[in-house]
Amino acid sequence: MLTQKSIKLADYISYPFLIPSINLDFNIGKDSVGVQSSMIIKPKSTESSNLILQGCQINLLSISIDGNELNSEEYSITDNELIIYNPPLLEFELKIKSQIDPFSNTSLEGLYLSSGMLTTQCEAEGFRRICYHPDRPDVLSIYKVRIEADKAVYPILLSNGNNKYSGKLNNNNQRHEIIWEDPFPKPCYLFALVAGELNLVSDKYITNSGRLIDIKIYVESGDEKYTQHAINSLKKAMQWDEDKYGLEYDLDEYKIVAVRHFNMGAMENKGLNIFNSKLVLADSRTATDDELERVESVIAHEYFHNWTGNRITCRDWFQLSLKEGLTVFRDQSFTADLHSAGLKRIEDVSFLRNFQFAEDQGPTSHAVKPNEYVAIDNFYTTTIYEKGAELIRMLELLIGQEKFMNGVNNYIKTFDGKAATTEDFIDSVIKGAYSEEKNCTFDVEKFQNWYYKSGTPEVQISQEWDSTNSILNVFFEQKIDISSTNQNKEMVIPILYSCYSREKACQPIEEEKLLVLDKNKRKLQINVPSSERNAPVLSIFRGFSSPVRWKSDLSIDDYLFLFLNDNDYFTRWDSGQLLMREIIKSRIKKEENSLLEDRFILAIKQSIKHLETNDPFFLSTLLTIPGFSELEALFENVDPITIYRESLSFQISIGIKILQDLRILSKNILLNINQTWPLGKGERKILGTIWSFLALAGDTKVKRNCVDSIANSSMTIVRAALDALKPLDSNETKEASYLFYDIWKDNPVVLDSWFAYEASRPSKQGIDIIENLLSHPKFDWKAPNAIRAVLGGFSKNIESFHSLEGQGYLFMAEKIIEVDKINPITASRMVKVFSKWKTYIELNKEEMHTAILKINKANISSNTREMVELILK
Ligand code: BES
Ligand code: ZN
Repeated sequence: MLTQKSIKLADYISYPFLIPSINLDFNIGKDSVGVQSSMIIKPKSTESSNLILQGCQINLLSISIDGNELNSEEYSITDNELIIYNPPLLEFELKIKSQIDPFSNTSLEGLYLSSGMLTTQCEAEGFRRICYHPDRPDVLSIYKVRIEADKAVYPILLSNGNNKYSGKLNNNNQRHEIIWEDPFPKPCYLFALVAGELNLVSDKYITNSGRLIDIKIYVESGDEKYTQHAINSLKKAMQWDEDKYGLEYDLDEYKIVAVRHFNMGAMENKGLNIFNSKLVLADSRTATDDELERVESVIAHEYFHNWTGNRITCRDWFQLSLKEGLTVFRDQSFTADLHSAGLKRIEDVSFLRNFQFAEDQGPTSHAVKPNEYVAIDNFYTTTIYEKGAELIRMLELLIGQEKFMNGVNNYIKTFDGKAATTEDFIDSVIKGAYSEEKNCTFDVEKFQNWYYKSGTPEVQISQEWDSTNSILNVFFEQKIDISSTNQNKEMVIPILYSCYSREKACQPIEEEKLLVLDKNKRKLQINVPSSERNAPVLSIFRGFSSPVRWKSDLSIDDYLFLFLNDNDYFTRWDSGQLLMREIIKSRIKKEENSLLEDRFILAIKQSIKHLETNDPFFLSTLLTIPGFSELEALFENVDPITIYRESLSFQISIGIKILQDLRILSKNILLNINQTWPLGKGERKILGTIWSFLALAGDTKVKRNCVDSIANSSMTIVRAALDALKPLDSNETKEASYLFYDIWKDNPVVLDSWFAYEASRPSKQGIDIIENLLSHPKFDWKAPNAIRAVLGGFSKNIESFHSLEGQGYLFMAEKIIEVDKINPITASRMVKVFSKWKTYIELNKEEMHTAILKINKANISSNTREMVELILK
């Protein structure tokens, strides 16, 4: 039973007032900030209703309506609401004077301090910590903001939109003021304000229509040199959105501020994005190739929100995937277009399976469009984001790219300036894509089920080879439990398939086609040329065409064939992953499987030989062992330590068997290793893979080589070296780690990766090492990046976290309780390290349970309470 009150989608009612405009006035003082808001309010109907505004930890000074101050009978105030009784029935002006204290706000929500500067985070419900306001996304207003502050302490004063005025104050020479106006109506969660000592790096972008946009990146002094990559990324994103979607930026300037203390990755505030500094400050010395790509995609993501999120926003937070799923889909397509679509797909699928599928299997499983929630901050999940993006991707596949674009354009035209629902989105996309709705080739209503249904659908596939007529019959079945009701609806499952001749491996017999499985069962007939004597090899769910699990009767031979020959990157990789999972599983179950292992190793050797035809990055991806979370999902009773050890010993045995091939390979790639990103990233990636295998196989020369690479290489190589040494817990490991620390100790962004490394690497010292990291002079308790590095890193330190007679779990629980006191959002995300407790073997299960109960008994925030109760349920 959950003890907290939940918000329900079914209870939605539109706000009874319009607030066309709001003026905000911020007076920044030494130990508090004065906030005055003045709103024009229009009742929507002639019947009177009370005016309800949210507000938390605000010191209310006065309220007036049309210039008349209200007396205490005319309103009431609670911990989180201000209710004004019977406001005027016609348009009126409401003025509220108040005061807030950002200086002791550690939650990183609302207005708070980060390294001496004031900054805001309002999504989802932070605006209520700044002033009394209807803190919901469907109330859109035009904002005008005046900020005044001491010029020496806060030389830079920023808010959304365009700069209208700035100057000194007449009565006080030390203070200055600035006025910002944002002409586009927006919900309050997109409001932003930044004040402090920041350095500006600026650039320009010219749109296709010839408009000049000022790009302004604000960073702490000394960080200017790390902004070029972010600027390049932003320009690419602006160009891509114009070329691909015909969407142009709408203000004259685009500002990005980098802050050290930030709960999330980045925030799309209109015209004033605020970023976690690790997602802005990056070059090839400080960031790995993967991190550079991540920065590029997050910059793009927040930029793309300008249309999908800001110009069109969400009616309520149940519609969160409307903006997040769609924008993740857009940033994924952007990265696919800029780099390799095939590799990007593998990366995204691997993430989805390791995290979203795991979420779906656990206690926090929920639909992309849930019916209720307690704390909205807990709903920024991989289901809303990544599964949400998969739904849009399926829609594009079902409709076809060109028509889909027409559909999205229609959505944007129809809802520009409005707050919309996911149903609005689907309906307007279908209307825009097809001249008549009846031309739509799939059941839209059934497609909508994807939004309402939690869990991962399953599909069963079996084949019958009719050799007399040369027909391959394929039977598809959705696993639907008819006994249970509404959760088990038929889905629309798009399946891309093709098939290969066993004899003539390279050419598919059948070009890639789409089968739409929209009924419980479907049969597919593939006609094969009569020259084929054997059943062809079926290649299904190519490109991971829908986010489902499937079971098929494909044989090990088939998978080995696809691993070697399929022309779809995803299917090749996936076949290899399946084989590796089989091998690791049988190793754990102590089942004899050496034949399969030998055949797989042979296939790997063949792939390495064909490097000329293989992208080196892809080759390295093929050689990557399945993620830990995917391995855990293979077992009813998970023994994490055994999984870790067996997966490692499998890697060791691969390494030993392909030693010679790797050595030859490494000679051939060194040429391109120093090219600048994105060039050379494949070579760097494969070098990392080679190092890992060779170091595990005990190659002393490679270990030395890794240590020697720490000082003067690009970060990709440095981290590849650290990763290769990581499982060894050797003298070289310590030496390399120390060298790294010494070089980067004054760069907090880079140092976080050292904290994560130290916390996650196997070590005989157990928890002491974690305690030491937490009290390290460079460790900052107020920075979620640092907390996630150490505590998140510890949770990935399998041998330590899961052993120690439950001490690791208890330690984690205590630290989460501590974090919760200062930052509930970060704490409630950390609790998820316990969400799989019920799937573990008895001992771990009990110990983990004890740790969760400890958090449950503590005096914790409602955010963390929701997660703990869900996990215990
Ligand atoms: N709107 C979110 C950021 C956000 C979410 C802030 C919840 C506060 C509460 C932003 O657009 C976002 O989705 N950021 C992601 C990164 C993105 C590339 C998926 C993040 O912060 O992790
Ligand atoms: Zn987003």
